[in-house]
Amino acid sequence: MRFMIFVTGDTHGDRDRFRLNDIKKISSGDTLIVCGDFGYIFSGGESEEEYLNFLAALPFCLVFVDGNHENFDRLESYPVEMWNGGKVHVIRRDGNSNPKVIHLMRGQIFEIEGKKIFTFGGGYSIDKNRRMRGYSWWEREMPTDAEMNEAICNLKENDYAVDYIITHTAPEETMSIFHPFHEEEKRLNNFLEWIRESTQYQQWFFGHLHRDEDFWRNQTVLWSEIRNIETNQVINIAR
Ligand SMILES: [Fe+2]
Repeated sequence: MRFMIFVTGDTHGDRDRFRLNDIKKISSGDTLIVCGDFGYIFSGGESEEEYLNFLAALPFCLVFVDGNHENFDRLESYPVEMWNGGKVHVIRRDGNSNPKVIHLMRGQIFEIEGKKIFTFGGGYSIDKNRRMRGYSWWEREMPTDAEMNEAICNLKENDYAVDYIITHTAPEETMSIFHPFHEEEKRLNNFLEWIRESTQYQQWFFGHLHRDEDFWRNQTVLWSEIRNIETNQVINIAR
């Protein structure tokens, strides 16, 4: 039996997202990818730990790239492991020790259901001034040179060809249309633009902009829609 891969936008720790009937369309063995701003590992505490247990008990595997609104101290407190060809932090496992809630690290290429998926999280918080360092904002939201170099090495090893790209923010050309003034994030957007120019991909999914829309250059920005990664069809039930 072939399992399916689905992709959605920023969840921001919103507990309603996983109560919706839409989620019931995702079966055991399938994978749901969140394009950053996952937010379910943030302030800590019992309620958050219990909610992560609930997410781990969902039938499918829940995986995410990091966005800008994440608690990087907590994400990085998990050991780095290999999963389907790339580096991850395993947040939760099922009773058989299979990873169920997984952080996909930056610059990795994963093979899931025979599809190569390149991941690169991170972004800049435009609301940084209203946030507190180490409490609600972390410098690690933007990537390091080492993460960018690792991405280049992994893409080169795969002859600059993958099936899908999952990022939190967008390549420069696209970002400059949605947000003409984004100086602070440009280093990352330019890097993603370079990837767009050098790498073959079928579809690129990103979040960050809190909207659902198919855009040019096989790019799709996602927020609350859940898409089948292969068909790019929306599976949400109309509300
Ligand atoms: Fe967001």
